[in-house]
Amino acid sequence: MIRILPPTLINRIAAGEVVERPASVVKELVENSLDAGATRVDVVLEQGGKNRISIIDNGKGMSYDELLLAVQRHATSKLPSDDLLDIRFLGFRGEALPSIGSVSRMSITSRPQHTENAWQIGIDGGDVREPIPATLAGGTTIDVRDLFYATPARLKFLKTDRAEVGQVVDMLKRLAMAHFSVAFSLDSDGKKMLQFAGAPDRLTRLRDVMGREFAENALELSHTRENARLTGFAGLPTFNRGTSSEQYLFVGGRPVRDRLLLGALKGAYQDVLAHDRHPVVALFIELPRSEVDVNVHPAKAEVRFRDSANIRGLLVGAIKNALAEAGFRASNTVGAGALERLAQTPSYHYSPSYSSNYAYSPQSNFSMQETAQRAFEPLFAPEMTPPLARPAHELQNNDYTSFPLGAARCQLHKTYIVAETNDGLVIVDQHAAHERLVLEKMKIALEQTGIARQKLLIPEVVPLDEATAEAIISRADELLELGFAIESFGGGTVIVRETPAMLGEVDVHGLVRELADNIMEYGETLALRAKIEELSGTIACHGSVRAGRALNVSEMNALLRQMEQTPRSGQCNHGRPTYIELKRKDVETLFGRRG
Ligand SMILES: Nc1ncnc2c1ncn2[C@@H]1O[C@H](COP(=O)(O)OP(=O)(O)OP(=O)(O)O)[C@@H](O)[C@H]1O
Ligand SMILES: [Mg+2]
Repeated sequence: MIRILPPTLINRIAAGEVVERPASVVKELVENSLDAGATRVDVVLEQGGKNRISIIDNGKGMSYDELLLAVQRHATSKLPSDDLLDIRFLGFRGEALPSIGSVSRMSITSRPQHTENAWQIGIDGGDVREPIPATLAGGTTIDVRDLFYATPARLKFLKTDRAEVGQVVDMLKRLAMAHFSVAFSLDSDGKKMLQFAGAPDRLTRLRDVMGREFAENALELSHTRENARLTGFAGLPTFNRGTSSEQYLFVGGRPVRDRLLLGALKGAYQDVLAHDRHPVVALFIELPRSEVDVNVHPAKAEVRFRDSANIRGLLVGAIKNALAEAGFRASNTVGAGALERLAQTPSYHYSPSYSSNYAYSPQSNFSMQETAQRAFEPLFAPEMTPPLARPAHELQNNDYTSFPLGAARCQLHKTYIVAETNDGLVIVDQHAAHERLVLEKMKIALEQTGIARQKLLIPEVVPLDEATAEAIISRADELLELGFAIESFGGGTVIVRETPAMLGEVDVHGLVRELADNIMEYGETLALRAKIEELSGTIACHGSVRAGRALNVSEMNALLRQMEQTPRSGQCNHGRPTYIELKRKDVETLFGRRG
């Protein structure tokens, strides 16, 4: 028998999609507050929101009649023109309140501005009660108790209180980033979890939400492509995370977790981060309302772009540019992390009270404002620009101390270059740095002129096994493009006649064997060019500046200067830093000369 379902059941079915957990209730209700023009929104949770969720706003409020309408399904004040491509508010379906009311005990108290009375309407598991007079200074207060009491199956899926609070915190942070001028707070079982004052601009709000560390280790973006605009901040690759939870994306003021955007983000960083590391970003995309469909996901977490290729290009292009311009800059947490590890090393016999005030604050001498300015200005202030007025050969080593990576002073363990700068010291992992330089050079050469080869004085015969030799020879054309002239020499051996000139002297045997291993691993289908990041690591490993090779001062300086000029050289191909900088005051801190 086919029948039309009763309204309460219809609402519960809708709630199944819209209201997954306390965080989704908070999202819907806070979005309503924002749509109502609130400048302050306070959220209160009890037991992770399972017992109670309250949202208090100072928005425009609802009258008696509006309250009755608001809890009806498909009743909305936000679609005056019937045009789904002209959505000006966060809400548009008229679904949130009836859905939440069908699975909880909800009360809405509201008093529109310039009216005498407040009214309260109740809705219990879908049963709507006549509004009664109430007292309220203004705005709207919504109380949601016993969430999912009417749908016990859903209740069982909820996680621990702590986990649910975590989800609410994340949701509220996202909404706060998108609406920087609105004040927000979150209380959970009497504890203040979040508190943001209304901010004058987005940067201030981002710093409040994401922390100063992010602000100091992020690059500012501002790009337009066709009619789409991208602004925000992209974290430096060395400031990476083990999960993607700190990727905050917004489209038209809406927080989204859109697959297209997340994919583009991965692409933008793929050069500079290992596969299991994730960048930290806060990116805002604005585009004409008719260019984006927000009605494609029950919780509005995804959107559909009319021209998705343009959006992808915008995001990837903006980030790649910014990273390339950042050059050798690595995050300042790299030095701080090193200091912290030093301070924790048991072999340092500090008295406990002494080491406990070891918290490192890289810019503690600066006011917040100065710090912010410093964080977002280009790395080279004009007066810091290297004094290249004089030809390079006239420069004495001491002149290099005013260069960003300083003057090379010595090499330790044939692995680390120690350089002196005007106000500190720099330690470079020569192997990691070299690997990066090789990759960047190879990429440019591949695109432009092709990789220059140099003939070996005596060609080298490398014995492999039959299958491996065959695999390598089948890729001979591609290897030639990468700078290797390799031919078959019969009986499971190959002969190497030329190697990439940029590598200098190479360990041909080691290199060819490892290349062969790589090739066997990739199989036949994958172009070697596409694997250039991994291959360059292998190739750099056998080049002349690998770890374990002694370098003289001019070789070391040459490496430092190359790093300064090479895009993305602040991190190796896996997102690890290629150098660490300690400011003089950091060193003084280590010795207890400063607190
Ligand atoms: N905090 C609030 N202050 C003032 N009016 C509100 C508030 N919350 C809801 N309303 C009114 O109640 C209506 C219904 O809200 P509801 O969230 O159910 O639907 P919506 O926001 O219009 O659409 P959506 O289902 O997409 O969220 C809104 O259109 C709005 O007019
Ligand atoms: Mg709504």
